[in-house]
Amino acid sequence: MSPIDRRTFVSMTTAATAASLAGASLGAGSAPVAQPGANPRPARAGDDHRCPCVISSGNGARTTAKAMDLIAAGTHPLDAIVEGTKIVEDDPSDMSVGLGGLPNEEGVVQLDASVMDGMLHRAGSVGSLENIKNPAAVALLVMRRTDHVMLVGPGALKFALRMGFKEENLLTDAAREAWLKWRGNLGRDDKWLNDDEREDLGQRKSGPRAEGSAAPRSSPHDARAGGPVIPDSTIPFTWGTIHTSAVTSTGHLAACTSTSGLSWKLPGRLGDSPIVGAGMYCDNAIGSAGATGRGEAVIQVCGAFSVVEHMDRGLSPTEACLAVLKRMADRTREKRLLDDKGRPNFNVTMYALRKDGAYGSASLWKGGSFAVHDGKENRVLESAWLFEK
Ligand code: GLY
Repeated sequence: MSPIDRRTFVSMTTAATAASLAGASLGAGSAPVAQPGANPRPARAGDDHRCPCVISSGNGARTTAKAMDLIAAGTHPLDAIVEGTKIVEDDPSDMSVGLGGLPNEEGVVQLDASVMDGMLHRAGSVGSLENIKNPAAVALLVMRRTDHVMLVGPGALKFALRMGFKEENLLTDAAREAWLKWRGNLGRDDKWLNDDEREDLGQRKSGPRAEGSAAPRSSPHDARAGGPVIPDSTIPFTWGTIHTSAVTSTGHLAACTSTSGLSWKLPGRLGDSPIVGAGMYCDNAIGSAGATGRGEAVIQVCGAFSVVEHMDRGLSPTEACLAVLKRMADRTREKRLLDDKGRPNFNVTMYALRKDGAYGSASLWKGGSFAVHDGKENRVLESAWLFEK
C-alpha cells in the first residue's frame, strides 16, 4: 500500500506518561516546573530531533515521504504538505478523507480542510465543500488568492470551480453501502441527542466528573482517531482525518489538515479540521500542531493553538500534546461522552512539531500513531497516551 517503514514502533508506557505529567505540573496554562523529588522528565522519541521534519497522522506516511522529497527539492513547505495530502485525499480506500470519505446523514460527502503558513502567519480554510476531492488545495488558494480565511458550502464550491477544480462524485460504492447500512439501522449513533442526553447537559453543567457514570449510549467510538473502524458491528464509523506539519532546515513551518469529518454528521456540521487554532495552527516563532479524532472536543479546548502555546511555555512537543488532552479529559463532563470510569469514550490524537524540528504526538487512548520523516528516514511511531483499556 504505502512505503511505510514500520520497523520502529516506540512504546511509551502509561507510567512514563504519568511521570511526565507530574514532572510538568500540568495545571491550566502552567509551565514545566521541577517538582521536588520528581523523576526527571523522560526523554521521548522526537525530543532531540532537529530540522528538517515532516510529521503526519498515522495514515500519512505517504504524505510525509512525498512532502520531504519536495522540501528537499526546494518546494515551499506548504505546497509540499498539500501535495502530500493529495495522495490520501485521492485514495478511495481511506474513508476518512477526500474521495471515498464517509458521507453525512443524507449520504452527501462534505469535506473540510485548512492550511497555515507559519512565516506569513496566514491561513486558509474550506468547510462543507462538496464534489471537490482536494479541499486542502482549495484552502491553500483561499489563503493565497483572497483576503479571507474561510469559505464554506456553496461559496467554497463556487470558488473552487473558479480556480479550475473539477467537480466529481465523491461517494464511492463502498461509502454508499456503508451509509445504506447505517440508514438501515437508523437510531444507532445518530447525532441528535435523545431525552436522557439532553437532561444530562442540564444536570451536570459545572460539577466535577463523577466516577462510575452510566455507560455511554451504544457508543462504538472508543479509542480510535484514525481510519474507519468496525467495532462491534459491520457499520464503519470514523472521525479520521489527516493532519501534517512540516519545518524546513531554515525553520519555515507549515500546517495542513483535511477530512471528510464525522461519519453520518448533520449536513453542514464543521469539525475542528477547518477551524484555525483547533484542527491545525502554526507560528514560525514557536511550532506547529494539529489534531485528528472527535472534532467537537478539539474545538472546545482550542486544541492546536493550545499545543503551540504549551510549547512556547517550554513543554516538549509530546508533553504539550498530553497537557491539552488532559485538559480535554478534565473538561468532558457529559455522561454520554464518558465510560464507566469517567474517562472520555472517544479518542483524539494531537501532533506537535517545534520550530527546531523536535516532534511528538499523544492520544487520549493508547493505540494512536503518527508518521514522521526526519530528513533521513520515514517511520510510523506510536503516540504517547493518557488512558489505556
Ligand atoms: N477531526 C475531524 C472531525 O471531527 O471532523
